[in-house]
Amino acid sequence: MIVDLRSDTVTKPTAAMRAAMAAAEVGDDLAGEDPTVNRLQSISAALFGFDAALYLPTGTMANQLAIRALTTPGTDVICAPRAHVYRYEDAGAARNAGVQMRPVEWQSLERELAGSHHHLPQVSLIAIENTVMAESGQPMNRDEIDPIQRIAQGAGVPVYCDGARIFNAALATKTAPRELVAGCAAMMFCLSKGLGAPIGSVLCGSRSFIDAARADRHRLGGGWRQAGIVAAAGIVALETMVDRLSEDHERAAAFADALAQRWPDALNASMVRTNIVCAQSAALPSDILGRLRIHGVLGATIDANTTRFIFHADITDEALQHAITALNRIEG
Ligand SMILES: Cc1ncc(COP(=O)(O)O)c(C=O)c1O
Repeated sequence: MIVDLRSDTVTKPTAAMRAAMAAAEVGDDLAGEDPTVNRLQSISAALFGFDAALYLPTGTMANQLAIRALTTPGTDVICAPRAHVYRYEDAGAARNAGVQMRPVEWQSLERELAGSHHHLPQVSLIAIENTVMAESGQPMNRDEIDPIQRIAQGAGVPVYCDGARIFNAALATKTAPRELVAGCAAMMFCLSKGLGAPIGSVLCGSRSFIDAARADRHRLGGGWRQAGIVAAAGIVALETMVDRLSEDHERAAAFADALAQRWPDALNASMVRTNIVCAQSAALPSDILGRLRIHGVLGATIDANTTRFIFHADITDEALQHAITALNRIEG
């Protein structure tokens, strides 16, 4: 048995997704004529309370287009220290938008923004991430988002939400997805992670923002054609895969407990509230990933200090038990 916990992007499309893909009505999306893409975009915009949406191949492209549309070259974008837009997009913001990422702790946001009066660069955007992937998928609730938005508004800086796993955040914080992004200038969510679709993310925002993002997508060669084939799976993902995310959260918590029982210094299991388990590599046996792999259990590292396991739709209770048994077989 192979238990692939490297990422929630490894999920395979469900039978319902494959059937929807086979039957999808399609057209030329570059001309705005793909009815299935248009439907996915309308559903998404309505779901998150925005005027318009754009279906894209990846979450990275969504983030990059948003940063290009919402910033001015030669300014800073403030984000959390371990934000995906900062650490995991190949310095795309610098290359694509000519901006510099400034990682900050949210408690010091006000002071950081005031820095622009003291020779620090102007800040053109604040990017939040929900859930915070590299922090064991921590969900942000409104009590954490409100002060960021209040300070941002005071400084006249828009807030963007990388909501790659916003449905996990909504579930864990018991908040409607649209409430979690209310007050943001724009947001994106991924269909190809916990929701199990094979491809795709959706960027949502105002009509003029989406028009700008669409034009940039074309400039970058991302103007695809009969994308309805994959958008059809995205619609099925939204309709059928959101409610089951609680199973991933429960399994991730059980795995985190098992890991913490063996290696208590590696993680605080109570921090695991969604589908991601991050542990301190130094507190785990060296080559734990190699030793798990022998038993068919795959994990990953996301930096020199962090080992990560992600739960998703293709991990059953049996797979979870197999992974826990494999953990308990490791000596040391
Ligand atoms: C928080 C976050 N944002 C953005 C992305 C980028 O998504 P994609 O892999 O579709 O480019 C990821 C991918 O893992 C992510 O975890």
